[in-house]
Order: sequence, then C-alpha cells, then structure tokens
Amino acid sequence: MYTPPNKTQSPYLPFGDRQDAPFYFTDILSVKQFQRKDLDYIFGVAHEMSEMVRRIGTFDLLKGKILANLFYEPSTRTMSSFTAAMERLGGSVIPINEVRYSSVSKGESLPDTVRTLECYADVIVLRHPEVGSVATAAKFTRKPIINAGDGIGEHPTQALLDLFTILEELGHVDGLTITMLGDLKYGRTVHSLSRLLSLFDVKLNYVSPKILPMPEEVVKEVAEKNIVQKQYNTLDPVLAETDVLYVTRVQKERFEDLDSYEKVRNEFIISPEVMKGAKEKMIVMHPLPRVGEITMEVDDDPRAAYFRQMEYGLYVRMALLAIVLGKA
Ligand code: NCD
Repeated sequence: MYTPPNKTQSPYLPFGDRQDAPFYFTDILSVKQFQRKDLDYIFGVAHEMSEMVRRIGTFDLLKGKILANLFYEPSTRTMSSFTAAMERLGGSVIPINEVRYSSVSKGESLPDTVRTLECYADVIVLRHPEVGSVATAAKFTRKPIINAGDGIGEHPTQALLDLFTILEELGHVDGLTITMLGDLKYGRTVHSLSRLLSLFDVKLNYVSPKILPMPEEVVKEVAEKNIVQKQYNTLDPVLAETDVLYVTRVQKERFEDLDSYEKVRNEFIISPEVMKGAKEKMIVMHPLPRVGEITMEVDDDPRAAYFRQMEYGLYVRMALLAIVLGKA
C-alpha cells in the first residue's frame, strides 16, 4: 500500500532551510489553502522580487535549485514565467512540454513521471487536463508541486497574480466591484479568482453566454463567505459600476461540439466603443491568450492592464518558488 509522504518532515529535506517558514515544502494546489494573512506574506515577497529585478535583474537566491516544468497542455505565459522566475533567482529548469516526446507517450503514469522528476528536481510545476490530477500527483512525491492548471478545475498561481495586479494597480481590494466576463463555465482562472476574492469585501458580477455560467459549486462556496454575486448575460447593466473588468477567452478545447463554440465565441467583444461606458479608473484584465474578445485598439487605453498583469505574474511566481523552497 502506498502512503503519501509528509513533505515537511521528510528525512530528505535540504540542510539550512528555514523549515518553520509558512508554505515551506507545501504543495500549491488550490486557492482554498490561503487566508488573507498568507496573501499579505506572498505579495510582500512578490513586491520585494519586483524591486530586486528592477535593481539587479538576476540574483542567486535559488542558486543550484532545479525546477521541473511538466506541461501536458499548451502554455506560453505560465510555462515561460515559471522558467524566467527560476532563472532570475539563479536556479535552472527541466522543461517537459512536448509530452509526446517523453515517456508519457510510452504510457507512463503521472505518479511514475513525478516520482522520476523528484529525483532530479527540487520543485515541480504541473499542468494537466484532468481536474484533481495535480492534487493526486502531489501525493506521490516528497517534493513540492505547484498547480499550473488542472483542466477546468483551478489555476491558483494565476489567481494570485491577478489579485496582486489589482492591488498594485488600484491599491486595495475591499470595496471593489469585479465583473468577470466570458467563459465562466470552463475558465479555470475565474474559478480560482472568485474563490480568492471571497476573502475580501467585494461585489462580484458574472457576465457570460447563457450556456457558460459560473459553476454552481463555485457560486455556493463564494456565497458561504457572504459575498454578493449577480449573474448576467449582457455587460450593459454592470459596466458603469465595474472597477475591474476581468475578460476571459471562450475555451474552445473544452467543447464537445464545435457548433456550440462557434455560436458563443463572439458574444462579447471589448472595443474602444464599449470602454466609453466604463469608469475612468477601471482596469481591464485578461489571463491571456485573447482570441478576439478584446480588440487591439483597446491596448493603448491606459486602463488596459493585461500586459502589465503578465509582468506582475513573474514576481508572484518568483515569490512562490522562493517560499516553497524555504528561501524567502
Ligand atoms: C489561462 C489558462 O491556461 O487557463 N492562461 C494562462 O495561464 N494565462 C487562460 C486561457 O487559456 O484562456
């Protein structure tokens, strides 16, 4: 019988780490594991990372440490920002993104793959198409695992960087009205973000095509925190009151039939015309990639925060790597 390892009490832990530090050797699987004080801690470290990058670019905090980047689904930002984060901290990366060229294509199981990588790496970042797969994989390794997206489940590091973006751009989260727009059914980033935002005093609007609403399970969890949530199928009623407009892509790869995808793919498009109805201080966010839901003409609007959002992501991922490896 296989017994999951207790990672923080493993005899294999490296010498010299601050083993009592929060999140040391802790898997990052879901935003549900965070309290507000944890966010203050993570964002404090992320802020220091941004200062260090600005001042010296690359430094040796994680010198000699190795990250395994294991991606079973496509990725540009998440994968390259984890790579950049590790390298800016002086560490190095084993990239496994073309799983068809790895032993996965020979039929190797996920538990065996992570047990292999733990022999070579200090931390594993994993993206996989099945909900819950990252949590299962985490049980099979004594090294910390970071969830980089598990199907339509969660994307906790994206939600952390989204929240950090709101804080850096607007200075606070309490009191804000956040409107999430697009594919709320299959978009894992909004599942994580709404759960994380429920730790604050916010109002949440969900605007989606009729067939792509926020899942009941998420709405129920957020309601338990006494957060006001309203659902709509058009943006008009809520645009003027919105402080953060969080736009998402319709997740084509999750549809069983492409006809339904085609019907809803262009239902919402943010253009300069739409932006005229928004607050002067509103920010537009998007986890990216965009495939037409925000026109390129919006990019010059100072309220378009989606490119800045990616840079904040680098600092948050640097912070997470340093924290789980006990070097923050
Ligand atoms: C998102 C994802 O993979 O869930 N991308 C990302 O990580 N920035 C959003 C998406 O693919 O639409």
